[in-house]
Amino acid sequence: MKRKAGNALRCAIVLGLAGWMGLAMAQQAPAAHPWSDAKLSPDQRADLLLKQLTQDDKFHLIRSYFAGPRKPEDKPVPPGYIGSAGYIPAIERLGIPAIQESDAGLGVASSERMRPGDYATPLPAGPVTAATWDPKAAFRGGAMIGGEAHAKGFNVLLAGGTNLMREPRNGRNFEYAGEDPLLAGTMVGEAIRGIESQHVVSTIKHFALNDQETGRTTVDVRIGEQAMRESDLLAFELAIERGKPGSVMCSYNKLNGDWACENDYLLNQVLKRDWKYPGFVMSDWGGVHSAAKAVNAGLDQESAAEIFDKQIYFDAPLRDALAKGEVKQSRVDDMTRRILRSFFAAGVFEHPAKKAPIDEKANLAVARETLEAGAVLLRNQNALLPLDVAKLESVAVIGAHADKGVLAGGGSSLVTAKGGNAVPGLKPTDWPGPVTYHPYAPLKALQSMAPQAKVQFAGGEDVAAAAALAAKSQVAVVFVQKWAGEDFDARDLSLPDGQDALVAAVAKANPRTIVVLENGSPVAMPWLEQAGAVLEVWYPGGDAGNGIANILSGKVNPSGRLPLSWPRDVSQLPRPELPGAGGGTPPESVDYAIEGANVGYRWYQSKNIQPLFPFGYGLSYTTFEHGGLKVDAKGGKVTATVTVQNTGKRAGADVAQVYVQVPGTKVRRLAGFAKVFLKPGEQRVLSIPLERKLLADFDTVKHGWVVRGGEYVVSEGRSSADLGAPVATQLAGDGTK
Ligand code: BGC
Repeated sequence: MKRKAGNALRCAIVLGLAGWMGLAMAQQAPAAHPWSDAKLSPDQRADLLLKQLTQDDKFHLIRSYFAGPRKPEDKPVPPGYIGSAGYIPAIERLGIPAIQESDAGLGVASSERMRPGDYATPLPAGPVTAATWDPKAAFRGGAMIGGEAHAKGFNVLLAGGTNLMREPRNGRNFEYAGEDPLLAGTMVGEAIRGIESQHVVSTIKHFALNDQETGRTTVDVRIGEQAMRESDLLAFELAIERGKPGSVMCSYNKLNGDWACENDYLLNQVLKRDWKYPGFVMSDWGGVHSAAKAVNAGLDQESAAEIFDKQIYFDAPLRDALAKGEVKQSRVDDMTRRILRSFFAAGVFEHPAKKAPIDEKANLAVARETLEAGAVLLRNQNALLPLDVAKLESVAVIGAHADKGVLAGGGSSLVTAKGGNAVPGLKPTDWPGPVTYHPYAPLKALQSMAPQAKVQFAGGEDVAAAAALAAKSQVAVVFVQKWAGEDFDARDLSLPDGQDALVAAVAKANPRTIVVLENGSPVAMPWLEQAGAVLEVWYPGGDAGNGIANILSGKVNPSGRLPLSWPRDVSQLPRPELPGAGGGTPPESVDYAIEGANVGYRWYQSKNIQPLFPFGYGLSYTTFEHGGLKVDAKGGKVTATVTVQNTGKRAGADVAQVYVQVPGTKVRRLAGFAKVFLKPGEQRVLSIPLERKLLADFDTVKHGWVVRGGEYVVSEGRSSADLGAPVATQLAGDGTK
């Protein structure tokens, strides 16, 4: 009894005390931590908190530690980090949370060595999301990975790959969003907005012109100001406007002689002055080459210096530079303030990232629906697709480990899916590998699609056996793969491992052959004319087997449209040779002035070259008619109106693409687009606002966008090469920004 009473008394005292303390703290909170008042603006809050920071606190925040796999001889990181890309310990005295950074744009990345046993939902590759031409799909994908990151304890995602596809051999194209500034800017911007909606800071990257991996840490990209502002930088400008990422990652390469992470033009003049960017710039891992120069050029945070940079610049060398007056204290304050501001803007203080349950089923559905909306049907002879699944008796499934899974791209963006690597041991097993297949096997999904059919698999190593299986099956589905990854480019556009011969033999044995492509960038298809159908799924991500089966069976009508031009061969490219790709010494510089702002389809148009498939192209199981284009210019806003009708027998979605030829130019630029879902026979009038920056030229004297007066030729259609009658419109020039 006594003990009980004693305990009760102690409890009452403790509870009372706790209640009192809680009240006292609640009353004290605004005074002690006035920056925790979410009613204040991120700027006000950052200003208040900055005042409380010591110089050491500031130096603490402007440099992250590597949180990835470490060698035994590496210095240990401070405790509390989650194995990932970057980490900064909390400043508990001020309630500043630990900064936990994870790659990347295709899901919360991890390798087995970082967080053994942990897994995440892989989104399809970036070009799939871009190929949806549906900003809502991009937002959903971003929100999905942002939510997973948050539930794993991360508050920064190194996600938002915006580099344009200038180089189809670029090993990282699968992390990006194609070749067009408007499409890439819109889609990546929406993905970023999705991430930030989950109280996770998103990091747009790699700023800028890091459009190839060959020589990525040494190469000097040469390009003129107007050309870069109207191409790669425009994609970043649009994505930043839309998505408001809290941080920007400067890239490894040099741009016009200066490293991107100490490039005054890029960071100070373009990003912070012209675009008024309020967030912070972090370096890529190993991208810093100086203290004073980088800081004065606009770099705010050095990433993982203790492992990747030649030395830790943002500590002793920066303190020395401050003492010598080479760097101003106000700049160190600005760096810190920008970091804090981005955390306030994303709501990181109020919504701390911490372990929470993840709805894996819902997230896998997001990945699958992205694939279903972004897979591109490139060819469909004699309406081979969709398959009449009820009547299928036999299906041959061939190649690319389709019995086990689907390929993923390699490097820092690699996600470990639940179930791990379905095909372990493929080379390279180390960086930028391991070559990984996500365990969403098409074979199983195709069997469930047609349970009555005999569905058999052939690996494809034995070409004759695969062809024999195809010959005795009603339909053959051949999966082909080309692995790409960070840190290397492809030598050429060919498929590896004799797969061209495999497809040719299978297609010869059975004209009802469907080729499914798993790749990061366009590949050459010497067998194209023999194939019955070709479906591009890139690296198709979570639940891909079912997504592919849904498309082949017609449960889903494909509506992806290419976010890139598909060259016939490398001779069509601005740079047919990519010296150093696949080995050898890369050149010191690369000349992007050859095509300048005419990236992708604009290059082909300017040279009268017909690529294999044009930008914006993609087939459907139904037919559409577009017409009645009108252009209306009022008060500086230009809007195109067009009617789209589904003239076929199946429901499906189409994309209205509006291209503009500005006065004095030969090429048409994508200036607006809209995706619309229509039932059979249904028609809709779409009103499509045209992006002003696509109607304008970048004026290097005025440092701004100038709409020239004159005649603008506007065309609308189903791809960059399939346009209806143009409409000419007079626009009064504005001569202003
Ligand atoms: C990549 C970045 C990545 C970083 C951290 C670098 O090698 O270029 O994209 O975010 O590593 O993993």
